[in-house]
Amino acid sequence: MTVTDTPATGTPPLDTRRVDAYEKVTGRARYAADRVPEGVAYGAFATARIGKGRIVRIDTSAAEAVPGVQLVITKFGPDELRDVGFLIAGGHAVQSLQPLRGDHVAYRGQPIALVIADNLVAATEAAQLITAEYQPEPFAVKIDAEGANTLVQEQAIPLPFLADIKVGDADAAFAASTVRIASTYEHPAQHAVPMEPFASVVHWDGDKLIVNDSTQNANAVRFGLATQLGLDPADVEVTSPYLGGGFGNKNSMYGHLGPIAIASRRLGRPVKMVLPRPQTFHTGSFRPNSVHTVHLGADENGKLRAAIHEVDQQTSRHDLFPSEATTVSSRLYAVPTFRGRQRLVQTDVQTPGFMRAPFESPAMFALESAMDELAYATGRDPVELRLANDTAVDPVTGLPFSGRHLAECLRRGAARFGWDARDPQPASMIAEDGSILGWGVAAGCYPGSIVPTVAHVSATEDGTITVAVGGHEMGQGIRSAIALLVARDLGVPVNKVIVLVGDTRVAPQHLTAGSWGTSSALPAVQAAIDELRKALDVTDPDDVDIPAALRAKGKSVVTVEASTLAPGQPPQALDQLKGGGLAIGGPVYPEFVTFSWVAHFVEVRVEPTTRRIRVPRVVSVVDCGRVASPVTAASQVRGGVVWGIGAALREASEVDDRFGGFLNTTLEEYPVPVNADIHQIDVDFIDEPDLLFNPVGVKGVGEVGMVGVAAAVANAVHHATGRRVHRLPIRLENVL
Ligand code: MOS
Repeated sequence: MTVTDTPATGTPPLDTRRVDAYEKVTGRARYAADRVPEGVAYGAFATARIGKGRIVRIDTSAAEAVPGVQLVITKFGPDELRDVGFLIAGGHAVQSLQPLRGDHVAYRGQPIALVIADNLVAATEAAQLITAEYQPEPFAVKIDAEGANTLVQEQAIPLPFLADIKVGDADAAFAASTVRIASTYEHPAQHAVPMEPFASVVHWDGDKLIVNDSTQNANAVRFGLATQLGLDPADVEVTSPYLGGGFGNKNSMYGHLGPIAIASRRLGRPVKMVLPRPQTFHTGSFRPNSVHTVHLGADENGKLRAAIHEVDQQTSRHDLFPSEATTVSSRLYAVPTFRGRQRLVQTDVQTPGFMRAPFESPAMFALESAMDELAYATGRDPVELRLANDTAVDPVTGLPFSGRHLAECLRRGAARFGWDARDPQPASMIAEDGSILGWGVAAGCYPGSIVPTVAHVSATEDGTITVAVGGHEMGQGIRSAIALLVARDLGVPVNKVIVLVGDTRVAPQHLTAGSWGTSSALPAVQAAIDELRKALDVTDPDDVDIPAALRAKGKSVVTVEASTLAPGQPPQALDQLKGGGLAIGGPVYPEFVTFSWVAHFVEVRVEPTTRRIRVPRVVSVVDCGRVASPVTAASQVRGGVVWGIGAALREASEVDDRFGGFLNTTLEEYPVPVNADIHQIDVDFIDEPDLLFNPVGVKGVGEVGMVGVAAAVANAVHHATGRRVHRLPIRLENVL
């Protein structure tokens, strides 16, 4: 084994632990908007300034008069820009509503015209000069507003995995329980706000459309554009080599792509479009507003007898974005009866979507706050209470968990944090600076999924190994995880491994999301390495001298291919992958159920007069199976913790009944944590391979790291102040 993470002789160079570190910090990594092809023109949208209605007239004359403006487009014909369905409904787009196809305005901020100009300044200026007359219509942007329409999810979308989860008679068991908790928690809408906004550069090479996009799903962009423009998918190439953050909201094709591809063809020039930050709030999918009512029934010792989790989650008028909140709330503890109910509330916004731990973080804010209430109601320590409700068996299916080290996460976290010193009495612990200490704990889980994956591995005579595989590098470190696996297995230096991901030319590129990137790519790469050893006649498991092995075969290069599926997944899933669709396996497999697990311990300090809440330290212990890439995995967890602190104390996408749309559409007005808000975050891993799940033993880490953080902060705030805050974010006025 060439690579060790903590060798006795010191720390290995960073680029052997985070393989693209130097590319990123030196600016050599090429993000979507970094391409400036010869003759490129720039796109900008004008957007609707009403909450909902119809466009009566658009005036583009002032825009057309701006020097440098090449095109102003307000409408495409139905055959020019064809329908592309919503990703979740079997399509390829973030929402079914495609811009510039009609006069209907579904929400404030919807694009109403596209300007293409020689430079960005002209495009932006011209777009701002476009005015419209509208016929306004009433709209609802809040889930409790008049006109918001509530649907029962399992009726609206009759798919088995979206049906209400029911185990036993939870209502009867709740009624018969000695201790009963009933609480409603509200989670606001939030926007992912990746540092890199939606960005694309397109050009035509004859009849071939070449797209450089910031996407987690190059397949969706490829097949979506083919559908939209009536092209053969073989004539659409999409590359997305790096993303400056994806977080779920770059999960499929955005509405600007088709229009700029058409504009590029009309002009015979490449076109670049980067959505300005405020527009990303009206264009980007977002974490929908949700309301969670949790009932917990327990005996006098806090042993759970019943759990009921009812969810109302916002969606748009034109698409049904489903909730999977109860997938996790039904699995965290041994509870003999459970009843879930998920409803969707249609409002006049763009279609919401995935945003890091999209359902799991809000669901756990509710469930783990309620568990803290149960701890106080039964007089039990919150860690002990959780340990007392541990289970090795999935309470929903009765199948074993392929791996569950949640109890160890809780015990280890408690020890690292010093939990023993906690006085459970609220407001009883005072720090040396006079602030009130609050210590909170929460657990979390995230489904373990795998998608079909194709990997190609080439060995060349100079000793280089090139891996081309499905996956996208969003900053989470998939390149590092792959390179480390190859280097360890073959005994080659990490910098001799080239990893190609996010490229439809080299392998089918399924959506990378749901924390399945590593657990999908690594088994496929491992299978390809095994093939490579066979092709090179290397039977022993030792390091491979690649140049020598190739010489012995009389070849300068050997290339192999392997493909893998989720456990029990039918082979047709590979065809779905190659056809540009989704093919997600798990978390329930034929013989087991897979989740990643986490425990978070949070200290808050509340300043006694101003009630300012700070978070000086967090301890997080994660069970994500084998840790494939220690540096990037720990970074993922820290990022999730930072985000959870933001969810608890900062973030909310604000709406106003009078105006529609979202109001706080800049980073000034949409506060996220900054460095001054973040102090010590201590991350530890159980690092036990989950070999039932896949032969590499890896599970997801990117999202589970965030799950439960907001609850742990809220529980710590309760411990400090005695206030149980039921609505995020927690603001000063909630604890005055
Ligand atoms: Mo993640 S929200 O599934 O990209």
